[in-house]
Amino acid sequence: MITAGCDVGSLTAKAVVMEQGKILGSSIQKVRAHPEQAGQEVLESALREVNLDKGDVGAIIGTGYGGKNLPFVNRCESEIICHSQGAVWQEPDTGIIIDIGGQDVKAIKTDAQGNVLRYIYNDKCASGTGRFLEIIAEALELELDELGEIHDKSGKDLSLSNQCVVFAETEVISLVGEGEEIPDIVRAMHYSVSHRAASLARSLEIKPVAVMSGGVAKNRGMFKALQDSLGTELRSIPYFQLNGAIGAAILAEDSGQITGDRKKKSEVGQ
Ligand SMILES: Nc1ncnc2c1ncn2[C@@H]1O[C@H](COP(=O)(O)OP(=O)(O)OP(=O)(O)O)[C@@H](O)[C@H]1O
Ligand SMILES: [Mg+2]
Repeated sequence: MITAGCDVGSLTAKAVVMEQGKILGSSIQKVRAHPEQAGQEVLESALREVNLDKGDVGAIIGTGYGGKNLPFVNRCESEIICHSQGAVWQEPDTGIIIDIGGQDVKAIKTDAQGNVLRYIYNDKCASGTGRFLEIIAEALELELDELGEIHDKSGKDLSLSNQCVVFAETEVISLVGEGEEIPDIVRAMHYSVSHRAASLARSLEIKPVAVMSGGVAKNRGMFKALQDSLGTELRSIPYFQLNGAIGAAILAEDSGQITGDRKKKSEVGQ
């Protein structure tokens, strides 16, 4: 059966189309003001990539902040469960998943089958999230995709004393004024986020082999900072930003409801 997972987060919508444990197609788009529309568009885009339409899909699961109200899904599933399933599918040794998205940070402890053992998350404020990085990067007039490279140029151990993004923004502007180097400030910003995420993970009694999911994993400086803060092995997974949508597509295999013609029209992506 062809299945699909649609993860509509606070910043990006992700869709994955799968069949028999293989990814056929995928897409990532910005959410902007209309989560429902973003979910619809991202799924259509993933299906178009492999020359399929909704009628070819046996079951679709929605997840994420905006995944609850999608009219075209068979059912919704919690993000925690989807990330757990997706991570174990991508990296069978996964014990802990740390998902840093645009709006929240989650730490999930899983067993070898992708069953959630425990989890914890912070969605109360921007500290420790991708939004924190976005706001500080903007204050420093930097693009998100250059942060990893800039991090590597740091030669000084600097730290931010404010976790609140409003105060941290003022603090980094003061640090620039005091003559601190941008790479050192960027590295300090990464450690501020990674310490928050690592302390969530540690509250679950950390197990070996952690993986990092969410768009923030694009930032290699953040990956390095998290590895250092965690004190356990942190492995890369190939589809870090699609992880929740992959988990949703895997869970859709069991969701039963079959609609339309299941025939696959294209071998693209196999
Ligand atoms: N090119 C990039 N380089 C570095 N970081 C990036 C890049 N693009 C996006 N990000 C980071 O990824 C974050 C978005 O991650 P993601 O797509 O996982 O969010 P989301 O799933 O919509 O959020 P949530 O799960 O909190 O609802 C942004 O806040 C930003 O910090
Ligand atoms: Mg997310």
